[in-house]
Amino acid sequence: MALEGGTGWRVVGEDWKHSGVPSPVPGFSSAGEAGVSHRLQSSGRSGGVINLSVPVVLPLSTADKERLDGVTAMALVYQGKRVAILRNPEFYEHRKEERCARQWGTTCKDHPYIKMVMESGDWLVGGDLQVLDKIYWHDDLDQYRLTPTELKQKFKEMNADAVFAFQLRNPVHNGHALLMQDTHKRLLERGYRRPVLLLHPLGGWTKDDDVPLPWRMKQHAAVLEEGVLNPDSTIVAIFPSPMMYAGPTEVQWHCRSRMVAGANFYIVGRDPAGMPHPDTGKDLYEPTHGAKVLTMAPGLITLEIVPFKVAAYNKVKRAMDFYDPKNKQDYDFISGTRMRKMAREGENPPDGFMAPKAWAVLKDYYKSLEKD
Ligand code: ADX
Repeated sequence: MALEGGTGWRVVGEDWKHSGVPSPVPGFSSAGEAGVSHRLQSSGRSGGVINLSVPVVLPLSTADKERLDGVTAMALVYQGKRVAILRNPEFYEHRKEERCARQWGTTCKDHPYIKMVMESGDWLVGGDLQVLDKIYWHDDLDQYRLTPTELKQKFKEMNADAVFAFQLRNPVHNGHALLMQDTHKRLLERGYRRPVLLLHPLGGWTKDDDVPLPWRMKQHAAVLEEGVLNPDSTIVAIFPSPMMYAGPTEVQWHCRSRMVAGANFYIVGRDPAGMPHPDTGKDLYEPTHGAKVLTMAPGLITLEIVPFKVAAYNKVKRAMDFYDPKNKQDYDFISGTRMRKMAREGENPPDGFMAPKAWAVLKDYYKSLEKD
């Protein structure tokens, strides 16, 4: 994202590659609001608690800050196009180390998002944001970039009496599917007649070794085509946030954004928004904490959290299954690294791990990398 103000200056900042700021965040945080992230929440105008676990901020350099001091408005520009006006700008110090330590619980310089924060400008700018038009990426995926209002309208058209949301940044394997199928079943048992799944892949920036959005969208389409998820009761849409890999802190943001989009239930499983520690390779976050934090987090009041324990490949059943430590010899944990290796080498995973057509998409993706 670039900023432009007064006489045509511009600055490239940290890349919040998403279609505007997710509603109902009115703009980039001002100094006061950013300070409030110490408490992981802020008070809404009506006095209620708003869960804002991650600061939504726009960094800029000292040179740009000095050039812009005193302007009453500036334009935000992306690839030469004005996308928004930031009025009444307020500049304040970008306390990077403190921000990272609070948001990620680490300041490890090799964490991919922390690296971007550390390389970004020393100042932040907040203010009142006016987005000029809906943002289009012209990548054949714009029809999936639905606003919260558009999503609510879709749920209505589908006569949904319950909406359960699934956040993901990875290809759907049958362990993910198990969580969604099980939630659907439980909702029917509770008396809902038309539960609708919001399959909501994250569409903003992700780290280099994650599968890019266009391939994931193809993979998700194959999962629906193969009937692992029911296309009649599923809406696939793109969640425009970047991935921060901030574990239990970030998962609150993931959940709250879906609450705003009309979800009544939010699925959370093992190690949401987690990644291996860049130095040790161990889980950066305790894998059960994401679900635990979510069930205790303030402000997530109009939806119910549906926590799940870890799913793993059951070699006896030849299917993904909830892990039972009593029969641990029956289970195989197929890590992301192993999955990537298999797909890259053109191998197939064990039967029942992923729908075959969906696996074929992944193999095609890794094959396409070899040509580069
Ligand atoms: S995330 O970064 O978007 O959370 P991912 O796409 O891998 O990562 O996960 C999507 C959702 O599935 C998260 O709620 C995560 O906790 C859950 N999940 C992923 N793998 C498993 C698993 N093996 N067992 C249980 N839950 C899982």
